[in-house]
Amino acid sequence: MPGDLAYRFPEGFLWGAATAAHQVEGGNHNNDWWEWEQLPGKIKNGDRSDPACDHYVRYRQDFEMLKGMGHNAHRLSIEWSRLFPERGVVNPEAVAHYRDVLETLRGLEMAPLVTLHHFTNPLWLTLSGGWENVSAIEDFRQLARLCAAEYGDLVDTWTTFNEPNVYAYQSYVLGLWPPQRRDFAAAVRVMRNMVRAHAAGYAELKSGPHGGSAKVGIAQHMRVFEPWRRWHPLDRAASALPEAGFNHWILRACTDGRAGWPLARPARIPEAAGTLDWIGLNYYSRDMVAFDPTAARNLFSRTFSRPGSPVSDFAMEIYPLGIHKLLLELAARYRKPLYITENGVADARDSFRAPALVAHLAESARAINAGADLRGYMHWSSMDNFEWSEGYGMRFGLVEVDFATQSRLPRPSSELYSRLIRQNGITRAELQDNYPPALGYLETSSRSSASSSP
Ligand code: GAL
Repeated sequence: MPGDLAYRFPEGFLWGAATAAHQVEGGNHNNDWWEWEQLPGKIKNGDRSDPACDHYVRYRQDFEMLKGMGHNAHRLSIEWSRLFPERGVVNPEAVAHYRDVLETLRGLEMAPLVTLHHFTNPLWLTLSGGWENVSAIEDFRQLARLCAAEYGDLVDTWTTFNEPNVYAYQSYVLGLWPPQRRDFAAAVRVMRNMVRAHAAGYAELKSGPHGGSAKVGIAQHMRVFEPWRRWHPLDRAASALPEAGFNHWILRACTDGRAGWPLARPARIPEAAGTLDWIGLNYYSRDMVAFDPTAARNLFSRTFSRPGSPVSDFAMEIYPLGIHKLLLELAARYRKPLYITENGVADARDSFRAPALVAHLAESARAINAGADLRGYMHWSSMDNFEWSEGYGMRFGLVEVDFATQSRLPRPSSELYSRLIRQNGITRAELQDNYPPALGYLETSSRSSASSSP
């Protein structure tokens, strides 16, 4: 009943879920992650990404299922190593495959949000130095040019990179992902090259045959960084650094071309200025930050979940207020249309996914009411999938997947999500049931100022 909506979303709001090719498709044997998975000890339980959800074969049924749940949009990525099995060599079958994928979505009236790079690199790119080598920029340009030409008539909303900050941090600072480097200067080089590649991709997508309708953005992982001891100047400084260096560095480079402080000496990437038509927020959690003089590689900070806070199976704090804070921060700083390109929880028992969904959506609606131009919400994820180093252990799906039989079983929370989509809003009863003020993570001061629609 629209009458008793506590929060209403704008007309035409995009509702869907997000995936990444390597996490759902299966059969990707020509990229750095597949090679990585073969090394003992890299992935929990020795899991491998083949067959994942066998989505390369089952995409039609999967999309029909999501359509049946009311989704009107879907975020997916294209696997670069399929389109270009070798440098400069295009695989026409893969080109046709993704065309069919996108036509299927269009046929179901689900708007595709397409990502060109979601963590995986073709092996040939890795062998020539990966993202440390400037040659990756031209390689990425070729990818964007091909996608603009082949799919520009089907896709309006493009994401060049998914979480370039996470990629650089995991792969070049922590060394937990391929190519397992621990070199801060290399991480900065990688991010600069990705910013240059984003600018090149932006130019290709906007000048392609359907460039007039192309809207290009980045899906940026952002966290709330809070000083552990609010009064302590060193904790405050320690949390300001990741805020600038992790949350905003890439976005700033793609806005005004500055790509230096606080990660490196001042530098400019002029061609990147003004290359964001919209910004995607991937939001999961908050980190407490304490100054730690021994953690030079981590910008002298130690991060951890607030003790006693509700956490997901991934041990990340569930902190819905953060999405409100970050949306307003993005709106104020960049003044661009926003999408939530990822948000979700690892929750195998589906015991807190529904309340988390309602809470994050309520906080998003509050941000809209306060002026954020939020246009859509893509839940991570449509179905359980290959969660990188965690393998199949972390269950993020609205739909449960039995990886032995490939059967799909929608979780109860997916029904709630469908209802919210149908209503294009949240009722007072849903809010009361799922996000009552008594919940531990609610800070009543900021809730009491919530503006809700009549
Ligand atoms: C994001 C990433 C996704 C997915 C998700 C859940 O950082 O873009 O691919 O793994 O986290 O952990």
